[in-house]
Amino acid sequence: MKILLVSSEVFPYAKTGGLADVAGALPKYLKNFGVEAYVVLPFYTRIVEGKHNIKDTGIRLVVNIDGEREVKVFEDNSYGYRAYLLRYDPYFDREHLYGTKDGDYPDNHLRFGLFDKAVLKLAEKLGDIDLLHINDWQSGLIPLYLKHTEEFSSIRNIKVLLTIHNIAYQGLFPPDVMGPLGIPSHLFNMEGIEFYGKVNFLKSGIVYSDAINTVSPTYAKEIQTPEYGYGLDGILKKRSNVLFGIINGIDYEVWNPATDKHIYYNYSIKNAITGKKENKKALFKDVGLKGTCKPLFGIVSRLAKQKGFDVFLEVQDRLFERDLKLVVLGSGDKVYNDLFIDLAKKYPGKIYARIGVYDEAFARKIYAASDFFLMPSVYEPCGLGQMISMRFGTIPVVRTTGGLKDTVKDIQKEDGYGIRFDNLTGQEFLNAIDRAIELYKDTKRKNAIVKKIMSMDFSWNNSAGEYSKLYEKLVKNEI
Ligand code: ADP
Ligand code: GLC
Repeated sequence: MKILLVSSEVFPYAKTGGLADVAGALPKYLKNFGVEAYVVLPFYTRIVEGKHNIKDTGIRLVVNIDGEREVKVFEDNSYGYRAYLLRYDPYFDREHLYGTKDGDYPDNHLRFGLFDKAVLKLAEKLGDIDLLHINDWQSGLIPLYLKHTEEFSSIRNIKVLLTIHNIAYQGLFPPDVMGPLGIPSHLFNMEGIEFYGKVNFLKSGIVYSDAINTVSPTYAKEIQTPEYGYGLDGILKKRSNVLFGIINGIDYEVWNPATDKHIYYNYSIKNAITGKKENKKALFKDVGLKGTCKPLFGIVSRLAKQKGFDVFLEVQDRLFERDLKLVVLGSGDKVYNDLFIDLAKKYPGKIYARIGVYDEAFARKIYAASDFFLMPSVYEPCGLGQMISMRFGTIPVVRTTGGLKDTVKDIQKEDGYGIRFDNLTGQEFLNAIDRAIELYKDTKRKNAIVKKIMSMDFSWNNSAGEYSKLYEKLVKNEI
C-alpha cells in the first residue's frame, strides 16, 4: 500500500509541537506493516534550505489558488522515509510556520489552501497513491477538493483519513475566502464547511474525509462532548461510526538516553539511576541551581492555556514552600511566558526558567535530568512529553485527561508507574506534587519505577499496526 502522509510540520524539518514528532516517526514504523508512506510538507525555505539533503525533483505543479501558481517539488530521503517538500516562496519563505508572536499570518488560508491543492496535484502525478492521511486543519481542504470539485475527478477514488491532533485549532476564516480558494459556494452550509458564519478548514476534513481518528481513545470520546469538542462535538457524533482513537507512539531512535548527543551523560536501563544523577548534577551546575538531593520537576512545553499552567498562579506560594526544584523550558502565550519569568525572579534557587525559546538540546537535558515531568493539562489529545520522559526514566505527574489518562497509570495501583490527579484545582495539584515528593523519599520504590518505565514500550510498534489496519479497511471499502 502507498500513502501520502500530509502534515504542516515534520520533525526534523520543521516543528512547533507533537504533530511534527508524529509525522516524522510514523512512516518509519509503517514500513514494518507493508505500508510505504511518503511524507508531504511545505518547503519552509528559511527554515529548511541548505539543511538535510533536500534535492529538486524537477517536478513542477501548476496550482490554481487565487490565480495560477507554480509549486516546485523537492525531495529528501535522509530519515528513513521519503519526504516531499512543496516549494512556493511567496507563501512559505517566512520566519515561522504559522505566524509571529503578534498573531497568525493573515494569508494562512491561501498558504494552506495552496498546499492542499498541490498535494492533490502531486498525488495525481505519482499515480499510485491509495490513501491520503491528512492531519489537522492545515490539510483539511484536501477531501473537499478531491471529492467536490471537478479538478481532481481522475483521482477521486483515493481514500482520505483525517487525524485530529488538537480540535481547538480549526483554521477559521471569513466567508469571502471561498472565492479565492475555489470552494464551490453550495458547500457553505451547516452540513458542509460553514461554522457560525465562517469557513472552517478542520470541519471540512471532518465532513468530507472517509474516516477520522484522533490520537488517543479517551480524546476520541471527549471530543464528542460539548466540554472538549470546541463546537464540533455535534458533527463528530454524527460521524461516530467512522471515528476512531489510536494512541500515538514516540520514535525510539530519536528519543534514546543511551545515544542522545545532547544530554550530559548517556545511560540505559542498567545504569539509569547513576546516569540520571550525573545528568541532574550537570544540569544544576549549568543553570545555577544547588541541592541535587532535592526532587527535580521538569517542564518542556508549549505555553498555551491547554497545558494547564494557570494552576501555578493559584498555588505558587504554597508550591515553592515545598522542598523541590523546578526547571522549565517553554514558549508561547505572553501570560504564561511572563508567569514563569516572574516565578523565576520570585523564587531564585528553586526554579530555573528558559522562556520564549524552542531548544531541542535543552529539552533533552531536562528529560534526562528530572525526577518528575509535569503535565497538568486542561486537555491533552495524546501528549508526547509524558512518553518521552518515561523513555528517559522520568516519572510523569499528569492530569487525568485524554492521552495522559491512556498512557499513565497511577502508583496507587499495584502496577502503577506515574502520578495522576483528576481535577485541575490548586489543592489536587499540590496533593499530586506531595505524593511525588513522598515517592522520591522512598528511594527503593522510586528507583524501581524508573526502571519499569524505561522498560515499557511507548514506541510506534503497536500503533503503526493499528493505522495500517485502518488504512487497509478504507482502501478495501470495508469502512
Ligand atoms: P503539543 O503537541 O500539544 O505541544 P506534545 O506533548 O504532544 O504536546 O509534544 C510536544 C513536543 O514538543 C515534544 O517533543 C516536546 O519535547 C517539544 N517541545 C515543546 N516545547 C518545546 C521547547 N520550547 N523546546 C523544545 N522542544 C519543545
Ligand atoms: C497535539 C496535541 C498533543 C499531541 C500532538 C501529537 O499538538 O496537543 O496532545 O500529542 O498533537 O498528536
